[in-house]
Amino acid sequence: AAAPAARADAGDVVVIAHRGASAYAPENTVSAIREAGLRGADLVEVDLRQTKDGKLVVMHDAGLTRTTDARRKFPKRKSWRVHDLTLAQVRKLDAGLWFGRVHRGEKVPTLTEALKAVKAARLGVILELKNPGQYPGMTSQVAKALKSDSYWLTEGRALVQSFDWPAVREINGKLPAAVRTGVLGRPNFADMLGARFYADVLHVEKGSAGAAYVAQAHNALYRVYAYTANDGAAARRLVASGVDGITTDRPDVLRAALDA
Ligand code: G3P
Ligand code: CA
Repeated sequence: AAAPAARADAGDVVVIAHRGASAYAPENTVSAIREAGLRGADLVEVDLRQTKDGKLVVMHDAGLTRTTDARRKFPKRKSWRVHDLTLAQVRKLDAGLWFGRVHRGEKVPTLTEALKAVKAARLGVILELKNPGQYPGMTSQVAKALKSDSYWLTEGRALVQSFDWPAVREINGKLPAAVRTGVLGRPNFADMLGARFYADVLHVEKGSAGAAYVAQAHNALYRVYAYTANDGAAARRLVASGVDGITTDRPDVLRAALDA
C-alpha cells in the first residue's frame, strides 16, 4: 500500500457495490455479491466481524437481529451479537428471509466464501474491518486471507478499510504494496497527511465529498471514494467533485449514469 495515488479521469470512476448490490439482494450475502457482478460493479464492499470462536464472517451490525433470524433460532439468549455466537451457530441463521421470501436460506458468509464469490464474479473487493479493536487477531486473519491467493495481489483488486485508523495502520504493515488500504471518516488536511503513511484511499460520506475537499485529498495523493449514492444526479455531482470511486446500493443505476 505504498504507491502514490494517481488521480483518475472521470471515465475511470469505479463503481463500488455497498454490502454487495444491497438494493437487490440481502446485504453482505453471496447473492448480493453475485448481483454486484451482474449489475456492473467494479468492486464489492463487505463488512467483517468475528464470531465467538474467532472466525471472520460478513456482517455489518454488531448484532445479528436486523438481518438474520437469530432471535427466533436462539430464543433463550439475551444477546445476539456476532461475538456471542460460534461460527457453527451463525451458520444456522437465515440471512435472507428479512429481505424477502425468495431469499430464504441465504447464509451469513465467511470471509473465505465472500472472497470466493467476488473472485468468481471477476471483481475487486473492499473489506471493511468493523470494530477491529474488539476482535483479537482480526488484522492478521484478513491479511493472511488476501495473501493466500495471488488474485488479490494485483494492484487495485483489494482494499482494506476501517473507521479505526490504528487498525488500518496495523494491517498496512502486514500487507503487500499491491493491496490498498483506506481510512473512513473526514480527516482535516493535517490528519490526511499523517494517515497517508499507511493509507491510499480516503472514503468519505458523500455530503463531505465537495470539490474543495476532494482537491485537498488529491493534493495529499489520496484516491477519494464517496458513499452512498443511489441515483444518477448524486453520482454526477460526485463525478463533478472529482471523486475516484462511488459506493452504491444500486451499481446498475450508477453504471448507467457514469456511462451516459
Ligand atoms: O464503505 C463505506 C460504508 O460502507 C461505510 O458505512 O455503515 O455502510 O459500513 P457502513
Ligand atoms: Ca461498510
